[in-house]
Amino acid sequence: MIRFDRRSFGKLAAMVAAGSAWPGKFGVAEMVGETAGRGASAGSAASDRSFPEGFLWGSATAAYQVEGAVKEDGRGVSIWDTFSHLPGKTFQGETGDVADDSYHRYPEDIALMKALGLKACRFSIAWPRIFPDGTGTANQKGIDHYRKFCEALLEAGVTPYCTLYHWDLPQALEDKGGWQSKATAQAFGDYAGYTASKLGDLIKQWMTMNEMASFIDIGYGRGVHAPGLQLSKQKLAQARHWAVYGHGLAVQAIRANAGQGARIGCAENVVPAIPAYNAPEQIEAAKKAFVVMNSPYLTVMHTGQYTDGYLKMLGADAPVFTAEELKVIATPTDFQGINIYTATPVRAAENERGFEVMRAPASYPHMASPWLSIGPEALYWVPKLAAETLGIKEIYITENGCSSDDVVAEDGEVYDTDRVMYLTAYLTQLQRAVSEGVPVKGYFLWSLLDNYEWADGYSKRFGITYVDFKTQKRTPKLSSKFYGNLIARNGL
Ligand code: FCB
Repeated sequence: MIRFDRRSFGKLAAMVAAGSAWPGKFGVAEMVGETAGRGASAGSAASDRSFPEGFLWGSATAAYQVEGAVKEDGRGVSIWDTFSHLPGKTFQGETGDVADDSYHRYPEDIALMKALGLKACRFSIAWPRIFPDGTGTANQKGIDHYRKFCEALLEAGVTPYCTLYHWDLPQALEDKGGWQSKATAQAFGDYAGYTASKLGDLIKQWMTMNEMASFIDIGYGRGVHAPGLQLSKQKLAQARHWAVYGHGLAVQAIRANAGQGARIGCAENVVPAIPAYNAPEQIEAAKKAFVVMNSPYLTVMHTGQYTDGYLKMLGADAPVFTAEELKVIATPTDFQGINIYTATPVRAAENERGFEVMRAPASYPHMASPWLSIGPEALYWVPKLAAETLGIKEIYITENGCSSDDVVAEDGEVYDTDRVMYLTAYLTQLQRAVSEGVPVKGYFLWSLLDNYEWADGYSKRFGITYVDFKTQKRTPKLSSKFYGNLIARNGL
């Protein structure tokens, strides 16, 4: 047992004041010395925690969050330009007008990727750079920009993974109803096909959309994201339907236009149902929950059906759809991207659904973003349940990462030890899944850079590279060293 006398406690207090002590109750780590308690791990071989050869390590960003240059080279206006400039919609009225200025600084960003040893870069194309009005005449300068960007990636040995829609809908389409309208889904298919025909020689890996569950439910349901609407239940359900329909049309259009070797998927933030604890009946409950709770997006994309439970729950508010549309929605893809940040524990229940969702106590830990509760097991259970319940054969974790209250220390470094903790915990669970044969083929860390975090503006930092938004100086954080080391070892 450790006892604190006045002297050692005084010394500890002085260390804390100087910023050298590790936080923790009574600073026990400082008292017992740095090697204490380490003996037990000495025998665990590195290879026990390695990933299969060829596992794809990447990072992810999105156009509006990093590019800036919103008025350059003929780019049209997107709903995020409009929304972020409306008073009161974003943290301190911040916008993506400049963001990380990656439109100009991408060579520097690619150099960071190369230094990390990244094999793949997930980025998004801004629809209004290709079709400033959403449809009609294409903007050659937009195509030219992404060609140069992809050429630079390939030159650095980094494979481009392109998302065609990460929330920046051309405003002209929103003015005609946005995702409430079937015409937007058709316009998306046309944009996807055109872009694939122009970039298909450089890009082989395509994702149609990022997180339908976010841009529809948060943008058109809660109104917290662009376009800031709070639709009725029925209209919201219909908008969800047109989003998945747009995805299906885009899969077909990319397939028809991208040329040989194109591989197509999307990146969805599923409801991350996990069993409340590891017991057969709880796992069964999590499986049921996974299929039903993901009904409007992932499930319908992979089964061509909305679950009875979903339609019943909506009743008169259910979307209007045809069998033909369902077929389009379920157009076969080559892989499924899944974005995972949190976990939703569920348990078995004797109700009609057979499960119930757990509530989080106030003490449940979260990262800097209040919504980002910590649930590492999601990286084990979610891909496993997706493979087992929906028969998905190839999965990529297309986003995972966290916000941290990063600061640049006096020595110029950023000690984001909490992010390293978060990533270690999640990746340990991913390694567990992969070693059991769950078909996850790669992982994209969100994000390469601190960037414009939508309605949270620049107040929430998700990067493994710190960005000083005044000078645009990039400083790799401790987590970037962690990630580079993990990639080099292909293991934890
Ligand atoms: C995801 C978004 C991504 C970023 C991260 C933190 O939901 O896809 O753009 O905002 O959250």
